[in-house]
Amino acid sequence: MQPLLDQHGRVATDLRVSLTDRCNLRCTYCMPAEGLDWMPLDDQLSDDEVVRLIGVAVRELGVREVRFTGGEPLVRRGLVDIVRQVRALDAGVEMSITTNALGLSRTAGALAEAGLDRVNVSLDTVRADTFHEITRRDRLDDVIAGLAAAEAAGLGPVKVNAVLLRGINDDQAPELLGWCVDRGYQLRFIEQMPLDAQHGWDRDAMVTADEIFASLATRFTLTPAHEPRGSAPAELFVVDGGPATVGVIASVTRPFCGDCDRVRLTADGQVRNCLFARSESDLRSALRAGASDEDLAARWRTAMWGKAAGHGIDDPSFLQPDRPMSAIGG
Ligand code: GTP
Ligand code: 5AD
Ligand code: SF4
Repeated sequence: MQPLLDQHGRVATDLRVSLTDRCNLRCTYCMPAEGLDWMPLDDQLSDDEVVRLIGVAVRELGVREVRFTGGEPLVRRGLVDIVRQVRALDAGVEMSITTNALGLSRTAGALAEAGLDRVNVSLDTVRADTFHEITRRDRLDDVIAGLAAAEAAGLGPVKVNAVLLRGINDDQAPELLGWCVDRGYQLRFIEQMPLDAQHGWDRDAMVTADEIFASLATRFTLTPAHEPRGSAPAELFVVDGGPATVGVIASVTRPFCGDCDRVRLTADGQVRNCLFARSESDLRSALRAGASDEDLAARWRTAMWGKAAGHGIDDPSFLQPDRPMSAIGG
């Protein structure tokens, strides 16, 4: 087995698979109210094609973790079936989804039964009015029910991802942490990255990790967690002596690219070696032209070799990728 190695010595073992670019929320920091020009369904990999490529990654390339993302992965009709097929091809691979949790209360049981291990849920506020302001939908109760259902179905430990937006929910960090601690969810705050469809990201408006720590310190005592971070994006802190922990994913002010172990596959079968990659490698065309597993694996290795050392957000020449976050997978 030859792994997915890049020229900076990193090995990718964590595959993030976007199953659709569609979403049933319209978070203002992600996409416009009217949505986007969705990917034509013919361009999207079929369920069997997704499973075939994941099989190549696991068998030929040493991938050990598979995370389904979107858009919103729960809107992909074949999700439960894809999970079941991936579990059948490898009993040991860790499989998870990152979701907004809408509809999760109905599908958590089936996903767990099909072999899913864990879920991470995106939730930026526990106030209904702020939830509507950010997502443009009144669905907070559904998200909360989805979280509870995931926990009950054994899809834990459940993690919650939150983005803070200046003037909208940046004063709610302690409230959100208290809410998660009470329910046993691990909360992680994410610094906003320049990946929005509207290209409206503003470095000066971004709520930084330092600001998040200062805000949390008004109500909690945080101490660095001692467990090794490895390649995880989140830096973890023990809350008030434990056992609860909180994470900060400071992609912008404290980049972790040097330890990155990720590779991405888009819903239309393109390999992206980084969230911020400027180019992609087209596995779908090769697959549909009849390529063997070995050939697909070789193309994938070539795509990985060219991965940049870092995202370069602070470089004067930085250019936001053409695909928005919703079409890459978070
Ligand atoms: P766990 O294995 O549960 O810790 O998952 P994770 O944190 O790796 O995955 P999740 O999908 O929950 O990611 C949380 C957020 O981290 C994403 O929404 C992104 O904002 C950010 N993130 C994930 N992967 C990357 C990455 O490779 N690079 C950067 N810069 N940010 C990432
Ligand atoms: N920067 C950081 N995180 C983002 N997310 C969406 N857009 C961005 C961005 N520009 C988060 C969502 C969700 C996850 C999939 O990615 O809030 O938690
Ligand atoms: Fe990895 Fe790219 Fe994310 Fe950096 S920005 S951690 S290199 S995917």
